[in-house]
This record gives sequence, C-alpha cells and structure tokens, in this order.
Amino acid sequence: MRRPIIAGNWKMNKTSSEGVELTKAIVGLGKGLDGVDIVIAPPFTSLAAVCSTVKDSPIKVAGQNIFWEKSGAYTGEISADMLGEIGCSHVIIGHSERRQFFGETDEMVNKKISAAFSAGLLPIVCVGETLEQREAGRAKDIIKGQIVNGFKGFDNSAASKIIIAYEPIWAIGTGKTATSDEANEMHAYIRSLLTDLFGAALAKKINILYGGSVKPSNSNELLSKEDIDGVLVGGASLDADSFISIAKSALNR
Ligand code: 13P
Repeated sequence: MRRPIIAGNWKMNKTSSEGVELTKAIVGLGKGLDGVDIVIAPPFTSLAAVCSTVKDSPIKVAGQNIFWEKSGAYTGEISADMLGEIGCSHVIIGHSERRQFFGETDEMVNKKISAAFSAGLLPIVCVGETLEQREAGRAKDIIKGQIVNGFKGFDNSAASKIIIAYEPIWAIGTGKTATSDEANEMHAYIRSLLTDLFGAALAKKINILYGGSVKPSNSNELLSKEDIDGVLVGGASLDADSFISIAKSALNR
C-alpha cells in the first residue's frame, strides 16, 4: 500500500519567524502521527530556519521551486543542491501558479525534475487543467500532455521517486473542490498513463496527491478513495490545527 503524503504548500505566506512558529505548532500537534508522511513547503526565506526546527521530528521540508542549472549567473534563482544542503528532502515542481504567472512549460518542468533527481530531492510534480479546458472536455488530454512531456526520458529507477499532485486549477483557492469521484477518476487515469510509461508494478507505487481547496471538512472523503494517496494543501496548511487534522484523516484510509 502507498504510504499517504500530506503536504502543505505555504505559497508566498509567512515571514521566517512566523514560519518557525507555525512549524513548531505542526511538530507539536503532529507527534505520534506514524503511518503518514508530512511535508511542509515554506517560502525560500524560511527554509533554513524551518529545516532546523523540524530536525528532531519526522516532518519533512520541501522547496516550492528550483532552477534546473547547478550554479551560475541566474539572478534570483535557487538550485536543487542549495535546497538539499540545508535539509530539504522534497521540491514542488510545475505548480499551476508557476505555469500561469512565470511561464513554466512542460519542457522546463522536465529539466527541473532532472535537477531534483541529481540533488537527491523528491519532486512533487503538479499537473492540472483549467475550467475552460475541463468544460471543453479536454481535461484528460491536457493532463496527458503534462505527464508525457514532463516525464520524458526518465528510466524506471528515476520514475520510482516521482510524486504527482493533481490540482485542477479551477479548484485552487476557490473553495470549489473536485468531488472525490471526479478526483479519483483523474487519479486513476494518471495511474493508467504511468502504467503505459513505466509499467504496472511501478505505477502502483507512485503517490498521486490531490490539491485544490482541501480542508478538514473534505479531506476524509477525498482520502478514502483508492487512487488518492495524499493531498497538497494550500490555504488550510497555514493553520496548524487544520493541517494536522487533514493529516489525521489519512490515517483512516
Ligand atoms: P488551496 O488549498 O488554497 O486551494 O491551494 C491548493 C494548492 O495550490 C496547493 O498547492
């Protein structure tokens, strides 16, 4: 069985000191939650402080983005090695907000996944369709393009380290969640794409998280579905009680 992953994407929220406070609360409330991996993704400025705050706990830390080059004249960018050295284990790649506001393409996502692998980071790769694409009946085609192009060129040993987050763009920050059946259907489709790319045995091991207005009131239902192996939480991850209560719902699977 896939071990559930509950990840919190703080986006551009919390100063470093606020982030440390939130992290301490998450560490405290998360004590004894075995059976689930908890990952938090603060902004870059808080990463080092958050990594040292979680040091003696099972909580893991992710960056929200990386650049694909190792070093050099790339003003404003951060490399995968830089995240690894301060204690990050994961990195979010290709979030829809990066695709929408910063022009990230599937090709860029592909290079960033390679960079994450080279530094030993586990990539949480985000895919998702817009409302317009869904209403036009193109949701599955869009997701297929993002998966096939994003994962081009990886062998099975690399692919086994991938985590996917399905985040329908129309459900992010809108209070509108995909129903658990809609989400599960897309997750099962993503797993069928992974089966085509990497074979059934490996596809069964890859965690596919759902993201988009996940809250304590809907997490139980979402996480009860066969192909929903965790969640990527935005707004509700900024509150330790909400975030940990979502994490607890993964234990009921
Ligand atoms: P919300 O949970 O705020 O809708 O954000 C989801 C998301 O984008 C997580 O990466």
